[in-house]
Order: sequence, then structure tokens, then C-alpha cells
Amino acid sequence: MADFPLPRKSSSRGRAGRPSIAELVGAARAAREHALAGFSHFQVGAALETADGQVITGCNVENATFGLTICAERVAMFKALSEGHRAFRRIVVVADTAAPTPPCGACRQILWEFGGDLDVILANLKRQTARMRLADLLPLPFDARLLDET
Ligand code: THU
Repeated sequence: MADFPLPRKSSSRGRAGRPSIAELVGAARAAREHALAGFSHFQVGAALETADGQVITGCNVENATFGLTICAERVAMFKALSEGHRAFRRIVVVADTAAPTPPCGACRQILWEFGGDLDVILANLKRQTARMRLADLLPLPFDARLLDET
């Protein structure tokens, strides 16, 4: 996987009015600032690009039960769904780790069911750390197609 610095111009728009990767990373970084991560101190931000080029962000939200914590990726996806978005292109995840921070298993499932084979871009505060397709992160998914077979 290529490991290269992010473009410097964070305001540059991508093709046909779509956000650039730098813009998506910027949005995810900004969302990360809102993380409620007082228990793990692990702040995560996500930026989900809809099929029509809108950017919906999320951060992780922890609480005293620990178990009811919700990751940045699912917050972004549920926000987007609740606002009526139904088709998605890619998601950027930002965490302050040298190694890529990929979506957890629960997030992979939700992203797959509602977003399909998204382009997944991982970044830290300095650079892009990895890029992959969701199908590679979730190679044998359980989804509604199986329910239709019964
Ligand atoms: N977390 C995310 O928000 N996204 C990920 O991709 C990995 C983990 C959050 C959940 C929890 O609040 C904290 O990071 C530590 O697991």
C-alpha cells in the first residue's frame, strides 16, 4: 500500500465538485476534535462521502458503560442515513497512530450493509497511511442477500 504525504492544499476540490482526499481528511480531522474519548483517550474522526459529493462526519462517542461506545465510522454512517443519504463513495478515518487505524468489525459490517464496497482511506495527523476497499476488509460478508434466499 502506498504511503504518501497528503496534498498540501486542503481547499482544493476534486473532480466534478467532489471533495478531494485532502478535504475529506481535513473534515475527518476536524470531526476528531469533537471525539468523546475520555475513557480510552483514543480520538477518531471519520468523513463519509456520499455519492453526490456531500461530506458527513463522525467522531467516536464513549460513555461510562464502555460497551455502548460508538465508533466514528458508525456515527458518520448513521448521521448520513438519518439525513436521507443512501449511496456512498468513500470514507476517511483519522486517528493519531503511526500505523493505519482500520474500522473495527462492527463498523465494517455497518459500512458494508449501507455503503457497499467503499473506498476506505486511513490517515493519521500527518499523512495518509493506507487505502483499501471495504470488500478486502470484509471478504465474506453477511448481508440482506442471504436473508432473501430463505
Ligand atoms: N474507534 C473508532 O472510533 N474507530 C475505529 O476505527 C477504531 C476504534 C474508537 C472506539 C473507542 O472509542 C476508541 O476508538 C478505542 O477503541
